[in-house]
Amino acid sequence: MTLPRLVVLSRRGRATLAPDHWAELERHADVLVVPCERAPERADAARLLAGADLLAATNLCLPAVDPDLLDALPGLRGIVLYATGYDHLDIPLLRSRGVGLSILPGYATTAVAEHCLAMLFGLATRLHLAHDRSRGAAPPTVSLRGVELRGRTLGVVGLGRIGGEVARMARALGMAVRGTDTDPAAAARAAASGIETTDLAGALGADAVAVCASHTFGAPPVIGAAELAALAPGALLVNVARASLVDTAAAVAAVRGGRLRGYAVDDTVLDPAVDGDLLAQGRVLQTGHSAWWRDETLDRGARMWGERMLAAVRGAPLDPVTWPEHAPAAPATAAVGA
Ligand SMILES: NC(=O)c1ccc[n+]([C@@H]2O[C@H](COP(=O)([O-])OP(=O)(O)OC[C@H]3O[C@@H](n4cnc5c(N)ncnc54)[C@H](O)[C@@H]3O)[C@@H](O)[C@H]2O)c1
Repeated sequence: MTLPRLVVLSRRGRATLAPDHWAELERHADVLVVPCERAPERADAARLLAGADLLAATNLCLPAVDPDLLDALPGLRGIVLYATGYDHLDIPLLRSRGVGLSILPGYATTAVAEHCLAMLFGLATRLHLAHDRSRGAAPPTVSLRGVELRGRTLGVVGLGRIGGEVARMARALGMAVRGTDTDPAAAARAAASGIETTDLAGALGADAVAVCASHTFGAPPVIGAAELAALAPGALLVNVARASLVDTAAAVAAVRGGRLRGYAVDDTVLDPAVDGDLLAQGRVLQTGHSAWWRDETLDRGARMWGERMLAAVRGAPLDPVTWPEHAPAAPATAAVGA
């Protein structure tokens, strides 16, 4: 019997999974593990992936798929992604080529929700600036004056796993939380767990807004200039999901114009040579996509990734990202934690 060929692209190579996971995978598949610090060049990708039935990759190693790459991989039937967000992948293209996609839903929910709260606390307390001032990295003229969060309102955009957890944590801090979701089922699950739901305008009217939504390949930002103009004057904006959900240039203009008291984003969006003053004053706080990077998520992510690879090589249908009609019925309440 010919075993399916699984190619694994990961920065840590074989160190990514436990040895017993590799052993089990190798009983069911012809496995090639390729350590990669970044996405391989096109010619290298086609060579490395030649003959692959299944590809397992991190977002770093697979930042895009396009028709040319898929043309070079006619046998590919599935991608097992080490990520929750897959907005960099063209799902209609994968679907048209019969390539399924498997992701890791929920492996980092707690970490990312905690990071969202940490960014909110950062903007409110100016903790990062107090630290910088104490080590001489920010001049004494940089203000450390902050605001309290208790009693303020938080609007949550996207009430899925992460947004739901952010809402619950913020309520525990004494914030009044209201959230919005474009998926009525997600909004209904949040409402059933006691979260007040509203429309986007209602969420944007809060003292602070947390962007926790998923993003769709090629879609425009959810928070653009018009939405920023609708924010309460002096609002705090935190984006823990994807930088592309917020129009960065418009957010910078809103910070400079005073509409936004601060913008925190879990990515690296500003060039210090251009907007270094905003970074030095801490009015833009950027954390370089580190929200998920915790001991627990690394363990959980590796385990889940290995399990999903194993399911894929055994022929199980991949997650219903490419084929939503294969989705199991939604649970009665929103998933919490991992
Ligand atoms: N920073 C990190 O390290 C990190 C880690 C994991 C996930 N993420 C990002 O967080 C996102 C959310 O993760 P999740 O597990 O909560 O996903 P999820 O699928 O459980 O929830 C996302 C929710 O956003 C909603 N949504 C989509 N577009 C919307 C819009 N325009 N307005 C309002 N709601 C909208 C969806 O309907 C869904 O309910 C992921 O897609 C990923 O991009 C970031």
